[in-house]
Amino acid sequence: MNPLFEKSVYVNRRETLAKKMGSGILVFLGNNDSPMNYPANCYNFRQDSNFIYYFGLTAPSLAAVIDIDENRTILFGDDFTIDDIIWVGDQPAISTLAAQVGISESMPMAKLEDYLTTNANRKIHFTKQYRFDNRITMANLLKKNVNEINDLASVELHKAVISMRSIKEDREIEEMEKAADMAYIMHTTVMKHCKVGATEHELVGMAEGVANGYGTGVSFPIILTQHGEIFHNTDHNVALADGKLLLMDAGIEGMMNYCSDYTRTYPTNGKFSQKQKDIYEIVLKANLTGIDLVKAGTPYRDVHFAAAEIVAQGLKDLGLMKGDVKEAVRLGAHALFFPHGLGHMIGLDVHDMEGLGEDYVGYNDEFHRSDIFGTRNLRMARRLEPGMVITVEPGIYFIPKLIELWQKEGHLADFINFDKLGSYLDFGGIRVEDCVAVTPTGHKVLGKAIPKTVAELEATVGTEK
Ligand code: GLY
Ligand code: MN
Ligand code: MN
Repeated sequence: MNPLFEKSVYVNRRETLAKKMGSGILVFLGNNDSPMNYPANCYNFRQDSNFIYYFGLTAPSLAAVIDIDENRTILFGDDFTIDDIIWVGDQPAISTLAAQVGISESMPMAKLEDYLTTNANRKIHFTKQYRFDNRITMANLLKKNVNEINDLASVELHKAVISMRSIKEDREIEEMEKAADMAYIMHTTVMKHCKVGATEHELVGMAEGVANGYGTGVSFPIILTQHGEIFHNTDHNVALADGKLLLMDAGIEGMMNYCSDYTRTYPTNGKFSQKQKDIYEIVLKANLTGIDLVKAGTPYRDVHFAAAEIVAQGLKDLGLMKGDVKEAVRLGAHALFFPHGLGHMIGLDVHDMEGLGEDYVGYNDEFHRSDIFGTRNLRMARRLEPGMVITVEPGIYFIPKLIELWQKEGHLADFINFDKLGSYLDFGGIRVEDCVAVTPTGHKVLGKAIPKTVAELEATVGTEK
């Protein structure tokens, strides 16, 4: 079990949630151990983030009910048997775990179905189940069709949870600072050991070692690749070649499950070529400008477009784009090189609360998702508020198949100099990413500053023999 905040933190959060919801029964399923290749050989356990937020407990196979009408909160779970104790050691009784987070009632797991059946005439709220075992459990508990259970999830509960988890308490920001400092160690360790001939695997192993040693592990599978243009490239079976760029997008989950998410890109041989430097400086400027614009009240969509304009202007200055920059961005021409969004909220999940629905997290009545290629991938558009933590992660990528497709179709050809792109097809991609908290007066980049300028990177890469 991971550390807990004081029990009043969880009591207060549950009270706030109950007030927001007004009435009904709220059911939360914690996660279960999940087998990899046979029942007793499981993936590392990860508790559900809503469960962590409201109930703190990071042991598997728990559930909880907040019965608003009856003013009861109940933790459901089974005390360890002697067999459990022999194989995995003892664990406090469920009633003791409940007391640790301010809950005075507990029951065996089998009673949960009885509780919900007895109260089936009342409104029962639950969140969308992203794990298949919990989808089946929820369907069985409520006697519904498993294929339809997620359609019955409570939008009202999703919105209430999102409204709370979006605004981080100071204690949460402190935990995120710790996770960011851990990411500093991870990124600088890899940078220092980056050299031509080292394998990507070796570096991934180093990064994972840091993550496991400092926190609870990585906050998502490490992206470490000389093919930065492949966003989620997790194939690391290759050695570092001279003259390439290495992109590492990685973060650590701290001891209280708060996440970090940083990306750095640097030359495998420790020295940027002029061509690499030219593109790098554009991405860095988009990152720094984006961070500068992070301020309460500003729609994050505007920050995204400001970064996109810097990308388009920079590429125009290099002769790769042309035409009016604002118009190019409005029509989505920059997305040939920057087809993802500028960032997302981060917290207990690296893409925070994505399991509750991206559109509820990043959009609202004021901002609706675009259907333009590239811009439609923006996860976060709405106005920033103090306490939000977001990533700022612009990039420039040369994706050969995408370039080929646009060129063949003549797509947005008024804005792209396709004839100049031939020599960039093996360039790869660059992304620079930081985690930024919105403060009452502006913003704060979390964690110790990971080398980011050309000079800082060149002074760090490959320095460990
Ligand atoms: N690695 C996923 C992200 O940066 O959002
Ligand atoms: Mn990332
Ligand atoms: Mn990110």
